[in-house]
Amino acid sequence: MKRIDQETKQRILDAADIVEVVSDFVTLKRRGANYIGLCPFHNERTPSFSVSKTKGICKCFSCGKGGSPVNFLMELEQMSFNEALRYLAKKYNIEIKEHELSDAERQQASQRENMFAVNDFAKDFFNKTLTETAEGQAIGLAYFRQRGISDAAIQRFQLGFAPEQSTALYDAATSAGYNRQAIIDTGLCSVSESGRVYDRFRGRVIYPVQSISGKTVAFGGRTLRSDKQVAKYVNSPESIIYSKSRELYGLYQAKNSIAKKDKCILVEGYMDVISMSQRGVENVVASSGTSLTQGQITLIHRFTSNVTVIYDSDAAGIKASLRGIDMLLAEGLDVKVVLLPDGDDPDSFAQSHTAEEVEQYIATHETDFIRFKTRILMQGLDNDPRHRAEVITDIVKSISVIPNDITRTIYIQECSQNLQINENSLALQVAKFIAEQKEQEASNKARRESIESIGNPDVPQTADAYRNLSQTDADILRPVEREIIRYIIRYGVAEIGVLDSEGNHATTLVIDYLRQELSYEKLSFQIPVHNQVFELAMQLRAQFDEAISLHDQSSLQLRQQEWDSGQAIIAQEVSTLDQIKSRETALQREIDSNYMQRENEFRLNYISKALLSNENDEIRKLATELSISRHKLSKVHSKYAKLETEQDRLEDRLPQAIFALKDAHVQCRLISLRNALKALSTAENSPIEEIVNLMRQIADLDKLRSQYAKYLGERVVAPK
Ligand code: UTP
Ligand code: MN
Repeated sequence: MKRIDQETKQRILDAADIVEVVSDFVTLKRRGANYIGLCPFHNERTPSFSVSKTKGICKCFSCGKGGSPVNFLMELEQMSFNEALRYLAKKYNIEIKEHELSDAERQQASQRENMFAVNDFAKDFFNKTLTETAEGQAIGLAYFRQRGISDAAIQRFQLGFAPEQSTALYDAATSAGYNRQAIIDTGLCSVSESGRVYDRFRGRVIYPVQSISGKTVAFGGRTLRSDKQVAKYVNSPESIIYSKSRELYGLYQAKNSIAKKDKCILVEGYMDVISMSQRGVENVVASSGTSLTQGQITLIHRFTSNVTVIYDSDAAGIKASLRGIDMLLAEGLDVKVVLLPDGDDPDSFAQSHTAEEVEQYIATHETDFIRFKTRILMQGLDNDPRHRAEVITDIVKSISVIPNDITRTIYIQECSQNLQINENSLALQVAKFIAEQKEQEASNKARRESIESIGNPDVPQTADAYRNLSQTDADILRPVEREIIRYIIRYGVAEIGVLDSEGNHATTLVIDYLRQELSYEKLSFQIPVHNQVFELAMQLRAQFDEAISLHDQSSLQLRQQEWDSGQAIIAQEVSTLDQIKSRETALQREIDSNYMQRENEFRLNYISKALLSNENDEIRKLATELSISRHKLSKVHSKYAKLETEQDRLEDRLPQAIFALKDAHVQCRLISLRNALKALSTAENSPIEEIVNLMRQIADLDKLRSQYAKYLGERVVAPK
């Protein structure tokens, strides 16, 4: 029997937003936390059909009908369960693969379940160790007490402690019967070259990371030493059940409060969330030290449209974080910013104030993003009128994405004063941007189906189309192609996380990802040297698996040597068993980190090294220019782990680079269409159908480009 696999089914159910689903049939109005409209199941004049976004259900208070999105559709449209799922899949552009699950797929599905089970076990194990063992109480619990964390908060956030002993968790999990591979796949344990398994988290307090539905997907472990050599946090690696950019710390605990208060407070760290929450300010989540991603914004938006970002007053990089504003505003979010008093972070502020004081402070100090942005941008401004004009355009754009008319008008008035610019001309500019947006939205709707099939005949993609690459086209294509080539040279055989067609998390090599995307989009490099480099890189890639396994062999030997000589030194320097153990743990950590760093360096050098010594001058020159690193290499277990490197951002950057390339091709196509149009319209007896046809194509591509612009404008917002 054909069936929709579990994974896809879950994705569909997760994607289905009750308000959006019902809105296709009923006009809804917002009433407090809920929406209300006329019941579609019976005739009525006053609305009694209520929809709860947070609960994900609808219900008629008069006739009693309603339910989940699926129930609603089944009832209203007389669909079967599967039909309702298919309907939703179509609405949310989720691909349904119709097939029997293969053995491998079945295995992977159960592998995910095994991993969740292991994580759940580990969470309880860490929690019990913290609260019930002598070691946990003396070290972990004492630490949380000293930081002012209550027992209730410890249970609410399921905090824990990982024992110092290097196989404590592994032993407990295996003797409880958990699958060894699942234990390793979660990253809770690793295997050494000698086959010895040891725990990732040792002697650290543990913060479990829970998904929106409360499943434990990962852990953060904080060291209790002030020793700068030790990484402050060790975190679970990405896995098939954990994608960092799709989780928000604390959301599971915060979601009810976020919905109730219709507001989400965004902070940076685990402790910030916990302190605020136990103080009674429960609608708090953390991005865990990294930039906020689109996935996380969508998660928040399921519960509220109001986000307040709390910055420490000394936070660097506020200006950089402004770039994400329009994306957030356009997403419909109302974003506010609060700066804390000097020297405070949310944790310390919550510890030293009452809930009322905290909320009062936020209420009186929060500035909406537009105002904040204006202030920040105007601060750094010189006297150059061009810069001033840029800033004004920037702010006008932000205002124009705000959906509410009244709010917008108020901003226009306010900005006209702040920027000392005529109110009418400001309003005019805003109106112009809005008109452009409207047009874009209309085309978004029309294009939604066809965007999947870009690769459509409108866009020239074959190398043939560019056999005679014009100067203009070369100028347009070169920088975007070059950017992709740069990623290939620098990171070609580095690993990135991706979602496979089933929506599962997997890893792949940068070059494999790019090649697949290019072939899917039927795009190729038009600048000859770029194409040559790509071909060479593909050849190198073909030999990579063997190369890395050779590297690994020698790296493992080196690791063994490091271990032996390290142990010899330990044996000389210390004598008690405890000292030896703790020195050995530190040693193990150090050589593990060296080992991983060697592998990363090998990957990052692999393609660039070969190209840098290529016999072709042009290739060598390009490789030289592109492999000079402006960025820090990603250091494993580094104390600087929170400084994001370019490598860390690849999962966002690569898709953007592909979009930029698609956009460049559309741009070239537009130029040639416009030229053709010009030629046609100046010719005698110009064929009117052809002109109209050309104009239509041009309009379509223009719309497509404004869509791309939206993707390409998507950046992230960093709270710090
Ligand atoms: P902070 O250094 O501000 O830590 O990092 P913190 O959580 O406030 O910890 P305390 O108050 O010193 O105990 C903010 C967040 O960045 C992530 C963690 O999620 C942390 O909560 N982070 C930080 C890491 O993942 N790794 C690191 O090495 C450092
Ligand atoms: Mn802190």
